[in-house]
Amino acid sequence: MATRRPIVAGNWKLHGSRQTSRALAVAVAEGLAGIDLGPARLRGENPPLEVLLCPPFVYLAELAELVAASHLRLGAQDVAVEEAGAFTGEVAAAMLRDVGCRYVITGHSERRALFGDTDERVAGKVLAALRAGLSPILCVGETRAERDAGDTLTVVRRQLQVVLEALDSGQVSAAERQMMSVAYEPVWAIGTGLTATPADAQAVHADIRATVGRRDATMASALRVLYGGSVKVSNAKDLFAMQDIDGGLIGGAALLAGEFVSICKAAAS
Ligand code: 13P
Repeated sequence: MATRRPIVAGNWKLHGSRQTSRALAVAVAEGLAGIDLGPARLRGENPPLEVLLCPPFVYLAELAELVAASHLRLGAQDVAVEEAGAFTGEVAAAMLRDVGCRYVITGHSERRALFGDTDERVAGKVLAALRAGLSPILCVGETRAERDAGDTLTVVRRQLQVVLEALDSGQVSAAERQMMSVAYEPVWAIGTGLTATPADAQAVHADIRATVGRRDATMASALRVLYGGSVKVSNAKDLFAMQDIDGGLIGGAALLAGEFVSICKAAAS
């Protein structure tokens, strides 16, 4: 692990109830309090690890209150491009901040594949998040067909480039200040049990950092690049040991408190 402070984020996707969400958040908070990090250190100026929970929108406000005294932070799974108006069903970035949410996932491959998020819409969402003071987690990643065609880096660079080009210099500074991060999630590894090898993931992560570096060197060296796609306790340590892998975006394993806490331990050690 490089010197950048790692992030482990649990993306709960469309799972759970009010009751199970509360129970999971409490169990994760307790599990983390019990490990070597200690909640006081985590809450301090320079915590060794950032841990985020990204529940469905409707549970954000309640969980924000529930975990307020812990080191846990909250992220949303998506955000509207627009700030306000006749956009039925959307949730604006300012609303997320209003309920205590500090991070937001943008451009997850499920939003891209199932809900029409184009690279341009994703860029709009990153900008909306930055305007509201949120920290965006920009997801990128190739499909199996793109990988088989040898197009992994082309696809990931394009997804990044569209966002980088949408940012003016003030917004690049905001992205640095607000600690925007990137999550590399190969689509073929999501929910499949298949994982990129640490070496393959590292190669893409290094390329992501280099691509961002061509826009802004300072931003690139501080940028946290998370890996996502079937991360489990059994593979987390090897992935997180790679130089440019600064944590993980966890799906299925984030729904199991014990597993998720163990993944956090792997990132913190
Ligand atoms: P899995 O960990 O279930 O593969 O999901 C990864 C993911 O999509 C996180 O955003």
